[in-house]
Amino acid sequence: MRRIERTFEVSYRHRVLFTRGIFLSANPLLAGLLTESTVRRPVRALITLDAGVAETVPGLGTAIRDWFAAHAEEVALVREPLVLPGGEQAKEDPGQVTQIHALIDRHAICRHSFVIAIGGGAHLDVAGFAAATAHRGIRHLRLPTTVLAQADSGVGVKNGINAFGKKNFIGAFAPPFAVVNDLDWLEHLSDRDRRSGLAEAVKVGLIRDREFFEAMERDAGALAEFDREAMERVVIRCAELHVEHIATGGDPFELGSARPLDFGHWAAHKLETLSGYRLRHGEAVAIGLALDTLYSARSGLIAASDAERVLRLLERLGFALTAPELEKCETDGCPSVLRGLEEFREHLGGQLTVTLLAALGKGIEVHALDARLIRNAIQELLRRRRGSRTAADNKWQLS
Ligand SMILES: NC(=O)c1ccc[n+]([C@@H]2O[C@H](COP(=O)([O-])OP(=O)(O)OC[C@H]3O[C@@H](n4cnc5c(N)ncnc54)[C@H](O)[C@@H]3O)[C@@H](O)[C@H]2O)c1
Ligand SMILES: [Zn+2]
Repeated sequence: MRRIERTFEVSYRHRVLFTRGIFLSANPLLAGLLTESTVRRPVRALITLDAGVAETVPGLGTAIRDWFAAHAEEVALVREPLVLPGGEQAKEDPGQVTQIHALIDRHAICRHSFVIAIGGGAHLDVAGFAAATAHRGIRHLRLPTTVLAQADSGVGVKNGINAFGKKNFIGAFAPPFAVVNDLDWLEHLSDRDRRSGLAEAVKVGLIRDREFFEAMERDAGALAEFDREAMERVVIRCAELHVEHIATGGDPFELGSARPLDFGHWAAHKLETLSGYRLRHGEAVAIGLALDTLYSARSGLIAASDAERVLRLLERLGFALTAPELEKCETDGCPSVLRGLEEFREHLGGQLTVTLLAALGKGIEVHALDARLIRNAIQELLRRRRGSRTAADNKWQLS
């Protein structure tokens, strides 16, 4: 039998640039990026914009228009920004991807042009997928606008939309041309969305960097009040750890079975879908982290006192560590969230690989979870909630 075989490599540069006031005419960052590797002028760009950002950032439309007018010789905005509803519902609607594809077609956005996406993690996932699939990949510039997206989802190399009741069922690995984290966007976020992103920071600290976890413990009071400097420190370090993992972890496109950055996510993804996306991704991740931390303690990997530190930090940051979906059971009495484990295995393929904690700051991979211990961990979280309610009630009665 004849066989032709070669191995080849494709190298990527993955960069996350931090700035403020990206659309101020004096800020050179965007023009530099858009023109750095194209000789033809003006470079064409299509902007997609999360409606949540369009509604809350005053004067954004004008700022974008003025910025492109001031740089008209170098870059051309092919039409006004395409404003699309953000949040998880965006990923539930395949029509958004089609809308972006249609504009890429109508405005002759080619592989040397840009799709610039401005928004939260959900919007970036949608626009990134549209950009990755039109003409087999158009240059994609991500401008994440939430804590979660700047620290975690927006600085990754994945995109995708939901289908068949499953998160990220359709998607691709496609490193963006660049990510620009404009820290000013975070000022416009709701408290809920500021907090939500902190869950991913706790996650990465727990599996990668004990010092970072302990810094968050020290800063918990400031973070709970969304102190600007404390929040920015977290966003920058979390993004750095994330990129570090992609670049040096040995498996940026997740071809193997391990996915350390998905610590706490098997339960989180299931809780999100069970809640009909009432729970934000970060809120579900906080519960998933609590569950897998307790599991790590119950299976003897970490001390109970370390697990308590993790739960305390999450609570001090303002996360609820249970949700009604955690109590939901199937007709056979099995907690519905346990189905998430099977879906996780299905999504990954290969051997089931779940990250647990070997210590604060150190993840460990396991290939099986004991359903009985998961149930115990769920019960412990529920007891804890009831305990905190009773404590609050007692306090109220005493005062
Ligand atoms: N691709 C990946 O690797 C990856 C990794 C982790 C998470 N994710 C995905 O990210 C999504 C969650 O992202 P998220 O937490 O950023 O939330 P989100 O995108 O759902 O946005 C939450 C809300 O905030 C609004 N919003 C966004 N920026 C704003 C701003 N600056 N001011 C005011 N409102 C603003 C949005 O319109 C939306 O209503 C989930 O779909 C999750 O699956 C993807
Ligand atoms: Zn996540």
